[in-house]
Amino acid sequence: MRVVRCVNYGEPRELKIETADAPVPGPGEVLIAVEAAGLGYVDALFVRGTYQVKLPLPFIPGSEIAGRIEAVGEGLSGDLIGSRVMALSSRGALAEKVVLPAAMCAPVPDGMSLEAAAGFLVSYCTALYGLENCGALKPGETVLVLGAAGGVGMAAIDVAKAMGARVIAAASSEEKRAAAKAHGADMVLDYSEPDWRKALDALVEKRGVDVVYDPVGGAFSETAFRCLAPGGRHLVVGFANGEIPKLPLNLALLKRASLVGVDWGGEIRANPKANIPLMKKLAEWAAAGKIHPEPAATYPLEEAGNVLQRLLERKSVGKPVIRMDA
Ligand SMILES: NC(=O)c1ccc[n+]([C@@H]2O[C@H](COP(=O)([O-])OP(=O)(O)OC[C@H]3O[C@@H](n4cnc5c(N)ncnc54)[C@H](OP(=O)(O)O)[C@@H]3O)[C@@H](O)[C@H]2O)c1
Repeated sequence: MRVVRCVNYGEPRELKIETADAPVPGPGEVLIAVEAAGLGYVDALFVRGTYQVKLPLPFIPGSEIAGRIEAVGEGLSGDLIGSRVMALSSRGALAEKVVLPAAMCAPVPDGMSLEAAAGFLVSYCTALYGLENCGALKPGETVLVLGAAGGVGMAAIDVAKAMGARVIAAASSEEKRAAAKAHGADMVLDYSEPDWRKALDALVEKRGVDVVYDPVGGAFSETAFRCLAPGGRHLVVGFANGEIPKLPLNLALLKRASLVGVDWGGEIRANPKANIPLMKKLAEWAAAGKIHPEPAATYPLEEAGNVLQRLLERKSVGKPVIRMDA
Protein backbone atom coordinates (compact mmCIF):
# COMPACT_ATOMS: atom_id res chain seq x y z
CA MET A 1 0.00 0.00 0.00
CA ARG A 2 1.03 3.66 -0.46
CA VAL A 3 1.74 5.78 2.62
CA VAL A 4 3.14 9.22 3.36
CA ARG A 5 5.74 8.82 6.08
CA CYS A 6 7.40 11.51 8.19
CA VAL A 7 10.95 10.31 8.93
CA ASN A 8 12.39 13.65 10.15
CA TYR A 9 10.68 16.69 11.65
CA GLY A 10 10.73 19.43 9.03
CA GLU A 11 8.81 21.16 6.29
CA PRO A 12 5.76 19.17 5.13
CA ARG A 13 6.56 19.83 1.44
CA GLU A 14 9.54 17.44 1.86
CA LEU A 15 7.22 14.50 2.68
CA LYS A 16 7.51 11.55 0.27
CA ILE A 17 5.25 8.64 -0.66
CA GLU A 18 6.56 5.19 0.27
CA THR A 19 5.20 1.68 0.01
CA ALA A 20 4.50 -0.48 3.05
CA ASP A 21 2.82 -3.77 3.95
CA ALA A 22 -0.84 -3.45 4.86
CA PRO A 23 -1.36 -3.72 8.64
CA VAL A 24 -3.28 -6.66 10.11
CA PRO A 25 -6.10 -6.07 12.62
CA GLY A 26 -5.64 -7.55 16.09
CA PRO A 27 -8.37 -8.43 18.59
CA GLY A 28 -11.06 -5.72 18.68
CA GLU A 29 -9.51 -3.89 15.73
CA VAL A 30 -10.68 -3.19 12.19
CA LEU A 31 -8.73 -2.71 8.96
CA ILE A 32 -10.04 0.36 7.15
CA ALA A 33 -9.50 0.93 3.43
CA VAL A 34 -9.02 4.70 3.67
CA GLU A 35 -10.88 6.61 0.96
CA ALA A 36 -10.42 10.14 2.27
CA ALA A 37 -8.25 11.91 4.86
CA GLY A 38 -9.00 15.37 6.25
CA LEU A 39 -6.02 17.62 7.04
CA GLY A 40 -5.74 20.46 9.54
CA TYR A 41 -3.20 22.89 10.92
CA VAL A 42 -2.31 20.52 13.78
CA ASP A 43 -1.26 17.75 11.32
CA ALA A 44 1.21 20.20 9.77
CA LEU A 45 2.62 21.12 13.20
CA PHE A 46 3.11 17.41 13.98
CA VAL A 47 5.29 17.13 10.84
CA ARG A 48 7.35 20.15 11.85
CA GLY A 49 7.65 18.71 15.36
CA THR A 50 6.46 22.01 16.84
CA TYR A 51 3.10 20.92 18.30
CA GLN A 52 2.87 20.80 22.10
CA VAL A 53 3.02 16.98 21.87
CA LYS A 54 5.70 15.47 19.59
CA LEU A 55 4.85 12.28 17.70
CA PRO A 56 7.79 9.82 17.81
CA LEU A 57 9.49 9.30 14.40
CA PRO A 58 8.80 7.76 11.99
CA PHE A 59 5.03 8.28 11.71
CA ILE A 60 2.31 8.52 9.09
CA PRO A 61 0.69 11.98 9.39
CA GLY A 62 -3.02 12.71 9.18
CA SER A 63 -5.58 12.41 11.94
CA GLU A 64 -8.99 12.39 10.21
CA ILE A 65 -9.96 9.18 8.46
CA ALA A 66 -12.96 8.06 6.42
CA GLY A 67 -13.25 4.75 4.58
CA ARG A 68 -14.74 1.27 4.54
CA ILE A 69 -14.02 -1.62 6.90
CA GLU A 70 -12.15 -4.26 4.91
CA ALA A 71 -11.36 -6.85 7.60
CA VAL A 72 -12.00 -7.36 11.30
CA GLY A 73 -9.88 -8.80 14.10
CA GLU A 74 -10.78 -11.48 16.63
CA GLY A 75 -13.93 -10.81 18.64
CA LEU A 76 -15.67 -8.64 16.02
CA SER A 77 -18.56 -9.57 13.73
CA GLY A 78 -17.85 -10.00 10.02
CA ASP A 79 -21.06 -8.01 9.42
CA LEU A 80 -18.95 -4.89 9.96
CA ILE A 81 -17.08 -5.53 6.70
CA GLY A 82 -18.09 -2.97 4.07
CA SER A 83 -19.39 -0.41 6.64
CA ARG A 84 -18.56 3.24 6.00
CA VAL A 85 -16.76 4.64 9.03
CA MET A 86 -14.98 7.78 10.16
CA ALA A 87 -12.40 8.02 12.91
CA LEU A 88 -9.89 10.27 14.61
CA SER A 89 -6.39 9.18 15.48
CA SER A 90 -3.33 11.33 16.14
CA ARG A 91 -1.64 9.79 13.02
CA GLY A 92 -2.07 7.26 10.24
CA ALA A 93 -4.62 8.84 7.87
CA LEU A 94 -2.23 9.38 4.93
CA ALA A 95 -2.15 5.68 4.06
CA GLU A 96 -4.30 3.49 1.86
CA LYS A 97 -5.07 1.26 4.83
CA VAL A 98 -5.07 1.77 8.58
CA VAL A 99 -5.83 -0.42 11.60
CA LEU A 100 -7.78 1.11 14.50
CA PRO A 101 -9.75 -0.17 17.49
CA ALA A 102 -13.38 -0.64 16.37
CA ALA A 103 -14.44 1.47 19.37
CA MET A 104 -12.73 4.51 17.81
CA CYS A 105 -14.83 4.32 14.62
CA ALA A 106 -18.21 6.01 14.11
CA PRO A 107 -20.61 5.21 11.27
CA VAL A 108 -20.69 7.80 8.50
CA PRO A 109 -24.22 9.27 8.46
CA ASP A 110 -26.37 8.18 5.50
CA GLY A 111 -26.17 10.66 2.66
CA MET A 112 -22.79 12.05 3.74
CA SER A 113 -19.91 11.45 1.31
CA LEU A 114 -16.67 9.97 2.61
CA GLU A 115 -14.84 13.17 1.60
CA ALA A 116 -17.24 15.19 3.75
CA ALA A 117 -16.91 12.71 6.62
CA ALA A 118 -13.10 13.01 6.52
CA GLY A 119 -13.33 16.73 7.13
CA PHE A 120 -16.26 16.63 9.50
CA LEU A 121 -15.38 15.15 12.89
CA VAL A 122 -12.85 17.65 14.22
CA SER A 123 -14.11 20.89 12.75
CA TYR A 124 -17.88 20.38 13.09
CA CYS A 125 -17.82 18.73 16.53
CA THR A 126 -15.54 21.53 17.78
CA ALA A 127 -17.88 24.12 16.29
CA LEU A 128 -21.04 22.70 17.85
CA TYR A 129 -19.37 21.98 21.19
CA GLY A 130 -17.84 25.47 21.17
CA LEU A 131 -20.86 27.48 20.07
CA GLU A 132 -23.55 25.54 21.95
CA ASN A 133 -21.96 24.01 25.06
CA CYS A 134 -19.29 26.64 25.73
CA GLY A 135 -20.75 29.74 24.08
CA ALA A 136 -24.49 29.23 24.77
CA LEU A 137 -25.18 30.82 21.38
CA LYS A 138 -28.82 31.80 20.90
CA PRO A 139 -30.79 32.37 17.67
CA GLY A 140 -30.55 35.99 16.55
CA GLU A 141 -27.18 36.59 18.23
CA THR A 142 -24.15 37.78 16.28
CA VAL A 143 -20.98 35.68 16.02
CA LEU A 144 -17.61 36.96 14.85
CA VAL A 145 -15.55 34.07 13.41
CA LEU A 146 -11.79 34.74 13.14
CA GLY A 147 -9.75 32.80 10.58
CA ALA A 148 -13.15 32.18 9.05
CA ALA A 149 -11.94 30.63 5.79
CA GLY A 150 -9.84 27.95 7.55
CA GLY A 151 -11.18 24.44 8.11
CA VAL A 152 -12.24 25.16 11.70
CA GLY A 153 -13.59 28.62 10.81
CA MET A 154 -15.72 27.39 7.89
CA ALA A 155 -17.37 24.77 10.11
CA ALA A 156 -18.10 27.46 12.72
CA ILE A 157 -19.82 29.61 10.08
CA ASP A 158 -21.97 26.67 8.99
CA VAL A 159 -22.92 25.57 12.53
CA ALA A 160 -23.60 29.14 13.74
CA LYS A 161 -25.94 29.68 10.77
CA ALA A 162 -27.70 26.37 11.54
CA MET A 163 -28.20 27.67 15.12
CA GLY A 164 -29.91 30.79 13.77
CA ALA A 165 -27.10 33.27 14.42
CA ARG A 166 -25.87 36.14 12.28
CA VAL A 167 -22.28 35.50 11.21
CA ILE A 168 -19.48 37.96 10.51
CA ALA A 169 -16.50 36.20 8.90
CA ALA A 170 -13.05 37.73 9.40
CA ALA A 171 -10.38 36.70 6.89
CA SER A 172 -7.21 38.18 5.47
CA SER A 173 -7.74 38.03 1.69
CA GLU A 174 -10.43 38.69 -0.85
CA GLU A 175 -10.37 35.04 -1.93
CA LYS A 176 -10.85 33.85 1.66
CA ARG A 177 -13.65 36.32 2.35
CA ALA A 178 -15.45 35.24 -0.83
CA ALA A 179 -15.15 31.59 0.25
CA ALA A 180 -16.54 32.41 3.72
CA LYS A 181 -19.46 34.29 2.16
CA ALA A 182 -20.16 31.39 -0.22
CA HIS A 183 -20.23 29.08 2.86
CA GLY A 184 -23.00 31.12 4.48
CA ALA A 185 -21.46 34.12 6.29
CA ASP A 186 -23.81 37.09 6.37
CA MET A 187 -21.02 39.66 6.39
CA VAL A 188 -17.27 39.65 5.89
CA LEU A 189 -14.46 41.67 7.40
CA ASP A 190 -10.82 42.22 6.44
CA TYR A 191 -9.10 41.83 9.80
CA SER A 192 -5.66 42.31 8.25
CA GLU A 193 -6.51 46.04 8.13
CA PRO A 194 -5.07 47.82 11.24
CA ASP A 195 -8.38 49.59 12.06
CA TRP A 196 -10.60 46.54 11.56
CA ARG A 197 -12.43 47.26 14.82
CA LYS A 198 -13.91 50.40 13.25
CA ALA A 199 -15.07 48.39 10.23
CA LEU A 200 -16.71 45.88 12.58
CA ASP A 201 -18.39 48.68 14.57
CA ALA A 202 -19.90 49.91 11.32
CA LEU A 203 -21.21 46.42 10.48
CA VAL A 204 -22.92 45.97 13.87
CA GLU A 205 -23.86 49.64 14.40
CA LYS A 206 -21.56 49.79 17.47
CA ARG A 207 -23.65 47.18 19.32
CA GLY A 208 -20.75 44.71 19.55
CA VAL A 209 -20.90 40.98 18.91
CA ASP A 210 -22.30 38.35 21.25
CA VAL A 211 -19.78 35.60 20.57
CA VAL A 212 -16.23 35.54 19.20
CA TYR A 213 -15.05 32.18 17.77
CA ASP A 214 -11.25 32.44 17.87
CA PRO A 215 -9.00 29.73 16.35
CA VAL A 216 -6.30 32.33 15.55
CA GLY A 217 -4.96 34.06 18.70
CA GLY A 218 -2.12 36.62 18.49
CA ALA A 219 -3.01 40.30 18.48
CA PHE A 220 -6.39 39.53 16.88
CA SER A 221 -7.73 38.13 20.15
CA GLU A 222 -7.59 41.26 22.30
CA THR A 223 -9.12 43.42 19.57
CA ALA A 224 -11.89 40.85 19.12
CA PHE A 225 -12.51 40.71 22.88
CA ARG A 226 -12.88 44.51 22.85
CA CYS A 227 -15.58 44.07 20.17
CA LEU A 228 -17.81 41.99 22.48
CA ALA A 229 -21.21 43.33 23.52
CA PRO A 230 -22.00 43.33 27.28
CA GLY A 231 -22.44 39.71 28.39
CA GLY A 232 -20.47 38.46 25.38
CA ARG A 233 -18.49 35.23 25.21
CA HIS A 234 -15.00 34.89 23.66
CA LEU A 235 -14.32 31.28 22.68
CA VAL A 236 -10.63 30.30 22.74
CA VAL A 237 -10.31 27.60 20.06
CA GLY A 238 -6.70 27.73 18.86
CA PHE A 239 -3.59 29.73 18.02
CA ALA A 240 -2.99 29.37 14.27
CA ASN A 241 -1.24 32.75 14.42
CA GLY A 242 1.48 31.11 16.49
CA GLU A 243 1.32 33.61 19.34
CA ILE A 244 -0.60 32.97 22.58
CA PRO A 245 -2.18 36.31 23.50
CA LYS A 246 -2.52 37.92 26.94
CA LEU A 247 -5.63 39.82 27.93
CA PRO A 248 -6.13 42.75 30.39
CA LEU A 249 -8.78 41.26 32.70
CA ASN A 250 -10.46 44.62 33.34
CA LEU A 251 -11.98 44.16 29.87
CA ALA A 252 -13.90 41.13 31.09
CA LEU A 253 -15.16 43.06 34.11
CA LEU A 254 -16.17 46.14 32.13
CA LYS A 255 -18.12 44.09 29.62
CA ARG A 256 -19.43 41.42 32.01
CA ALA A 257 -17.90 39.15 29.39
CA SER A 258 -16.58 35.57 29.58
CA LEU A 259 -13.45 33.99 28.17
CA VAL A 260 -14.18 30.30 27.58
CA GLY A 261 -11.69 27.61 26.55
CA VAL A 262 -12.96 25.20 23.88
CA ASP A 263 -11.15 21.85 23.90
CA TRP A 264 -13.43 19.34 22.27
CA GLY A 265 -10.75 16.62 22.35
CA GLY A 266 -10.19 17.18 26.08
CA GLU A 267 -13.95 17.11 26.71
CA ILE A 268 -14.47 13.72 25.04
CA ARG A 269 -11.41 12.24 26.75
CA ALA A 270 -12.89 13.33 30.11
CA ASN A 271 -16.45 12.45 29.21
CA PRO A 272 -16.55 10.04 26.20
CA LYS A 273 -20.37 9.91 26.10
CA ALA A 274 -20.56 13.68 25.54
CA ASN A 275 -19.86 13.13 21.89
CA ILE A 276 -22.91 10.95 21.18
CA PRO A 277 -25.64 13.67 21.31
CA LEU A 278 -23.31 16.09 19.52
CA MET A 279 -22.68 13.72 16.60
CA LYS A 280 -26.36 12.76 16.45
CA LYS A 281 -27.41 16.39 16.13
CA LEU A 282 -24.79 17.11 13.46
CA ALA A 283 -25.78 13.99 11.47
CA GLU A 284 -29.44 15.09 11.57
CA TRP A 285 -28.51 18.60 10.46
CA ALA A 286 -26.38 17.24 7.61
CA ALA A 287 -29.19 14.93 6.46
CA ALA A 288 -31.67 17.83 6.58
CA GLY A 289 -29.30 20.08 4.60
CA LYS A 290 -28.91 22.49 7.55
CA ILE A 291 -25.11 22.16 7.47
CA HIS A 292 -22.86 21.62 4.46
CA PRO A 293 -19.68 19.76 5.43
CA GLU A 294 -18.40 19.09 1.88
CA PRO A 295 -14.69 20.03 1.64
CA ALA A 296 -13.65 23.06 -0.39
CA ALA A 297 -11.27 20.92 -2.45
CA THR A 298 -9.87 17.40 -2.66
CA TYR A 299 -6.30 16.45 -3.59
CA PRO A 300 -4.43 13.25 -4.49
CA LEU A 301 -2.11 11.61 -1.94
CA GLU A 302 0.93 12.95 -3.85
CA GLU A 303 -0.17 16.49 -2.91
CA ALA A 304 -0.48 15.83 0.85
CA GLY A 305 2.84 17.47 1.77
CA ASN A 306 2.06 20.61 -0.25
CA VAL A 307 -1.43 20.81 1.26
CA LEU A 308 0.06 20.68 4.78
CA GLN A 309 2.65 23.30 3.80
CA ARG A 310 -0.10 25.67 2.57
CA LEU A 311 -1.84 25.36 5.95
CA LEU A 312 1.34 26.53 7.70
CA GLU A 313 1.83 29.34 5.20
CA ARG A 314 -1.71 30.69 5.64
CA LYS A 315 -2.51 29.90 2.02
CA SER A 316 -5.18 27.24 2.51
CA VAL A 317 -8.87 27.94 1.97
CA GLY A 318 -11.56 25.72 3.53
CA LYS A 319 -11.03 22.16 4.74
CA PRO A 320 -8.53 20.27 2.57
CA VAL A 321 -9.23 16.57 2.04
CA ILE A 322 -7.00 13.94 0.41
CA ARG A 323 -8.72 11.32 -1.80
CA MET A 324 -6.79 8.07 -2.03
CA ASP A 325 -8.13 7.17 -5.48
CA ALA A 326 -7.62 10.61 -7.03
N1 LIG B 1 -10.02 23.62 20.37
C1 LIG B 1 -10.19 22.56 19.63
O1 LIG B 1 -10.83 21.59 20.04
C2 LIG B 1 -9.59 22.57 18.23
C3 LIG B 1 -9.95 21.59 17.30
C4 LIG B 1 -9.39 21.66 16.03
C5 LIG B 1 -8.47 22.65 15.69
N2 LIG B 1 -8.12 23.56 16.64
C6 LIG B 1 -7.17 24.68 16.31
O2 LIG B 1 -7.81 25.56 15.41
C7 LIG B 1 -6.80 26.27 14.69
C8 LIG B 1 -7.18 26.35 13.23
O3 LIG B 1 -7.07 25.07 12.62
P1 LIG B 1 -7.47 24.85 11.07
O4 LIG B 1 -7.23 23.42 10.79
O5 LIG B 1 -8.78 25.49 10.77
O6 LIG B 1 -6.32 25.72 10.34
P2 LIG B 1 -6.43 26.52 8.97
O7 LIG B 1 -7.35 25.86 8.02
O8 LIG B 1 -5.02 26.75 8.56
O9 LIG B 1 -7.07 27.93 9.40
C9 LIG B 1 -6.43 28.78 10.29
C10 LIG B 1 -6.69 30.23 9.89
O10 LIG B 1 -5.96 31.04 10.81
C11 LIG B 1 -5.60 32.26 10.18
N3 LIG B 1 -4.22 32.65 10.52
C12 LIG B 1 -3.87 33.81 11.08
N4 LIG B 1 -2.56 33.89 11.25
C13 LIG B 1 -2.03 32.75 10.76
C14 LIG B 1 -0.71 32.26 10.62
N5 LIG B 1 0.36 32.98 11.05
N6 LIG B 1 -0.52 31.04 10.06
C15 LIG B 1 -1.57 30.31 9.66
N7 LIG B 1 -2.88 30.73 9.76
C16 LIG B 1 -3.10 31.94 10.30
C17 LIG B 1 -5.73 32.03 8.66
O11 LIG B 1 -6.76 32.90 8.21
P3 LIG B 1 -6.46 34.39 7.68
O12 LIG B 1 -5.37 34.27 6.64
O13 LIG B 1 -7.75 34.80 7.13
O14 LIG B 1 -6.00 35.15 8.88
C18 LIG B 1 -6.17 30.58 8.51
O15 LIG B 1 -7.18 30.44 7.53
C19 LIG B 1 -5.47 25.56 14.96
O16 LIG B 1 -4.73 26.33 15.89
C20 LIG B 1 -5.90 24.24 15.60
O17 LIG B 1 -4.94 23.78 16.51
C21 LIG B 1 -8.67 23.56 17.88
